[in-house]
Amino acid sequence: MKENILITASTGFFGRHFLSYVNQISSNDSNFIAGVRRPKNVQEDEVVRCFQTRPFDFFNTSTFDKALDGIQKLILVRPPALKNTKKYILPLIKIAKEKGIKHITFLSVTNVEKSKMIPHLSVEKYIMESGIPYTIIRSGFFMQNITRLNQNEIIKNHTLSMSAGSGKVNFTDIRDVIEIAHSSLSNNKFENKELEITGDKAYSFFDVSEMISKQMGQKITYTKPSAIKFIRDKVKEKFSIQLIIQMSAVCNRIKQGKAEFTSEDFSHYMSKDSRTLQHFIEESF
Ligand SMILES: NC(=O)c1ccc[n+]([C@@H]2O[C@H](COP(=O)([O-])OP(=O)(O)OC[C@H]3O[C@@H](n4cnc5c(N)ncnc54)[C@H](OP(=O)(O)O)[C@@H]3O)[C@@H](O)[C@H]2O)c1
Repeated sequence: MKENILITASTGFFGRHFLSYVNQISSNDSNFIAGVRRPKNVQEDEVVRCFQTRPFDFFNTSTFDKALDGIQKLILVRPPALKNTKKYILPLIKIAKEKGIKHITFLSVTNVEKSKMIPHLSVEKYIMESGIPYTIIRSGFFMQNITRLNQNEIIKNHTLSMSAGSGKVNFTDIRDVIEIAHSSLSNNKFENKELEITGDKAYSFFDVSEMISKQMGQKITYTKPSAIKFIRDKVKEKFSIQLIIQMSAVCNRIKQGKAEFTSEDFSHYMSKDSRTLQHFIEESF
């Protein structure tokens, strides 16, 4: 019988990329179920509507029990706006334990132990203390954030603006994170491991703009805006406030040198090299 696996934040950036991947791979021994807080919107979502869905709202703990009925494994993705993990995520882990969930794969961030303010750290702790077998995937900054956030300005204005100063980033291809998250659901070697998943090298946004310039044959200037200017500009470009807040917090971390860290866990566990930023830029520009 197929295992049932619930994914939270399934309509978000990571969740949709994950479900697209599941849709593309031919062998699928599991039944993925998307936890959604606004079931009515799912019909408009061409990725998520291909999956069975269940109502799931972190802010409404009464949805947890039904959402976890008959579920064996959980891919826990924390919505970026959810800060009070004790109130909204700890109860989920407790119910998961009561219902006999066999494994939790949690999407966290690199170097989390060095940034005690980041909510992911407490979630990691709750999972470890629950005794439920787990895989914690601490991911670096997704390369795909560049296309998500900067592609328009790069093409239209030949600028790249992130309030990250000269800080370096462990750019990570979201596809590597997805592959390892998917593998963690079916292979014991990932059990009770905390994996740091990054690309092979950290780059500043000056480096990124140079790489894109070479690829496009057009000078792209990294404008290095202040945090306030970055927020103002992205509001004008009509990005969601939530995404702007999330990205300016990440930029602040990058500026402080907290995102430089790289790791070889991906190549070690997946027996292949992680995707490179150069390759991503060649594909995207
Ligand atoms: N971006 C990166 O570079 C990066 C790197 C490493 C780790 N991460 C981590 O990845 C995680 C996911 O980020 P993301 O970019 O995928 O987020 P996102 O695109 O902002 O999506 C947020 C998701 O959470 C859902 N959501 C919001 N409030 C909810 C609630 N109360 N109950 C249930 N679902 C709710 C949203 O549903 P609706 O569609 O209904 O709004 C949406 O599916 C974050 O924890 C982030 O720290 C990101």
